[in-house]
Amino acid sequence: RCPAFIRLRCAGTVAADLRREEQPSGSVETGSKDKTPKKTFPEVQNERREQAQRTVLIHCQNKVSERKFLKYLSQHGRIHSHFFYESFGFYAVVEFCQKDSVDSLLKGTQTPANGTEAAIPFRSRFLSLKLRSPPSQGSEQPQVLLNNQLPPSNRKLSELLCAAKSIDDQLNTLLKEFQLTEENTRLRYLTSSLIEDIAAAYFPDCRVKPFGSSVNTFGKLGCDLDMFLDLDETKKLDIQKNKGNFLIEFQVKNVASERMATQKILSVLGECLDHFGPGCVSVQKILHARCPLVRFSHQASGFQCDLTTNNRIAMKSSELLYIYGTLDARVRALVCSVRYWARAHSLTSSIPGAWITNFSLTVMVIFFLQRRSPPILPTLDTLMTLADEEDECVIEGNNCTFIRDLNKIKPSENTESLEVLLKEFFEYFGNFAFSKNSINIRQGREQNKPDSSPLHIQNPFETSLNISKNVNQSQLQRFVELARESAWVLQQEEAAAPCPPSKQPWGLAALLLPSIAQNKKVQKKLPSERIKSLLESVKNNIAQSATHT
Ligand code: GTP
Ligand code: MG
Repeated sequence: RCPAFIRLRCAGTVAADLRREEQPSGSVETGSKDKTPKKTFPEVQNERREQAQRTVLIHCQNKVSERKFLKYLSQHGRIHSHFFYESFGFYAVVEFCQKDSVDSLLKGTQTPANGTEAAIPFRSRFLSLKLRSPPSQGSEQPQVLLNNQLPPSNRKLSELLCAAKSIDDQLNTLLKEFQLTEENTRLRYLTSSLIEDIAAAYFPDCRVKPFGSSVNTFGKLGCDLDMFLDLDETKKLDIQKNKGNFLIEFQVKNVASERMATQKILSVLGECLDHFGPGCVSVQKILHARCPLVRFSHQASGFQCDLTTNNRIAMKSSELLYIYGTLDARVRALVCSVRYWARAHSLTSSIPGAWITNFSLTVMVIFFLQRRSPPILPTLDTLMTLADEEDECVIEGNNCTFIRDLNKIKPSENTESLEVLLKEFFEYFGNFAFSKNSINIRQGREQNKPDSSPLHIQNPFETSLNISKNVNQSQLQRFVELARESAWVLQQEEAAAPCPPSKQPWGLAALLLPSIAQNKKVQKKLPSERIKSLLESVKNNIAQSATHT
């Protein structure tokens, strides 16, 4: 959804431990081999938030000498890390070692006086760097190297995939090229922190937390930034000092429902972002949606942002996906490829409609991995059984309890390759009885559909809801047909035993072609039912010959 992919350059110290633990590298190990201790979701969120609070975003009018720039800022305290990036201008993200240094820098920062226009004197950690004396004409701009953080173009990606050694290698390459980088993740937390400062003008102890694909391990460069305004801290009491026979309360305005309170809060914040928020443009208040939100573009980071509040369950879903994405390295690689495949065939879209969403696709992959033998991922019920007392969580009457310490979850014994999993994923959903069954990751098994929606995926926490209620029959049909065709292409390739690397798109690259049916390997477009029966007979033959040998 982000029009401009940003280019980032990272220099200086990087929080390497955060990178290692949050974003497992492209190399795939099964869960059973990966012994690195893993951080819980709240631990990551708290560390990243604290890091963001020590950080400033600086728009540089000109390219600056890196050495002089750092020397100038170091007057306020030691710099922990910094990087430069380009997105509608030239920016620096500077992380100080101490928060005091940011305060010192802000004290020495002035509000601009523009000749004809009047500035709204709103102070934030988004700053501008200007030269006192402009560079003389003809003087060379300092060289600041910018590391390109763009995901590869379609062409480049196709080349990379064709040059891969195996289908497993292809899936890992795709993940490596598209996953959020350390710097992009930091920019996401910094943007949330800047928005939090604006919201804090009204609600001093509020928190703005990123959720969704920015933090659930399934983000890709360019994905939107979902943020949740958490007002719970503002409601907390200091009980220690509240003894005695009296009770003191704030005078507040009351409204008819929680929903109305949410709408009012978001409406005011929308105005505030629009009028005062530096770099916040195209603010839209979408208050009558099922989940009211404020949508805007944060120009400096290039992120398309969605701000919600009273959306605690979505935060919990992000935590659950984080657990699934971190448990076994194959999960992210498979989800990334399935999402990319779906996007390449317009099964998903950035425009809301009857399409399958990335969230639904991710849940489908998780379900499929729970169904393997032995399972690659545990069911949500299993995660609930493993939970300790401190994991207990009930939101609006829904039980959202599950174990949060990843290190206490036994790794899977399953050692299937990504190639097998990709092929089996397409076959599994190419043959799934969507007309009668519902997908349920809580129990990890198919269940009778409770209603007539074409695709039924039970909401893991609000179990009476369907997360894919929006999907219509024709979109589901397209998904099934493409899944069957993809399974067929992979099956045919296996039979022909191609020897990668090859210049012709093969494996995953063949599945991403605008139309799989255009692929030379499927000479004539076969009807979907025909592909299904052909696949079955090929599988039976394989099984029979295996028995004979
Ligand atoms: P992207 O497409 O990369 O943005 O993926 P995403 O996971 O961030 O999806 P999206 O921005 O649409 O939604 C953000 C988060 O809201 C998801 O990760 C879920 O946690 C939650 N969410 C989205 N859609 C639904 C839904 O239909 N039901 C529920 N319960 N939660 C949802
Ligand atoms: Mg999102």
